[in-house]
Amino acid sequence: MAAILELVVAVDEQGGIGKNNQLLWHLPADLKHFKEITTGHPIIMGRKTYDSIGRALPNRRNVVISRQTDLRIEGVEVADSLTNAIALVAHENKAFIIGGAEIFNQAMPFISIIHLTIVHHSFEADTFFESPSPITWEAIETETHHADEKNAYSYTYITFKKR
Ligand SMILES: NC(=O)c1ccc[n+]([C@@H]2O[C@H](COP(=O)([O-])OP(=O)(O)OC[C@H]3O[C@@H](n4cnc5c(N)ncnc54)[C@H](OP(=O)(O)O)[C@@H]3O)[C@@H](O)[C@H]2O)c1
Repeated sequence: MAAILELVVAVDEQGGIGKNNQLLWHLPADLKHFKEITTGHPIIMGRKTYDSIGRALPNRRNVVISRQTDLRIEGVEVADSLTNAIALVAHENKAFIIGGAEIFNQAMPFISIIHLTIVHHSFEADTFFESPSPITWEAIETETHHADEKNAYSYTYITFKKR
């Protein structure tokens, strides 16, 4: 049995996802959305994304991918490759690939569902996620929200299913 792999990512209008190993915006609604989608399921991330978050996220198995053989982190399972990270969650029904760009690129062939948030603004970024090609990905759900007092930008959630 293999877990269904889903990908969660938030991009700006140019596909930017980060700069200087940080997110580009603070959007509480999207953090809540991320929490709702991933809680109760394993999350798999690159070591740089883990460093950027700075802690294991609660109520989920946290799997961190690193080539450092001596890396040990409290509350985190470390895998030395994407393949071994996926093997660690093989008995779960689904797991989420949560970034960053290096891990997204390697994981794309194994992903069934993409949960994309588009933040409707352009930021200066150094890390990007390529927009899902309509040849391979069908948008099955789209939901736009306006900016409000807590969220400075409007944003759209799009769920893509692999064709
Ligand atoms: N907007 C979003 O949705 C979102 C989501 C996640 C992250 N981000 C942003 O993305 C940026 C980080 O992304 P990134 O691409 O620079 O880094 P990353 O993908 O998070 O992590 C890269 C690290 O993962 C490890 N790694 C990658 N491939 C591996 C493999 N095949 N085998 C073993 N280890 C492997 C290496 O760790 P070692 O160096 O330890 O060997 C590598 O340095 C940050 O700015 C973050 O804020 C944005």
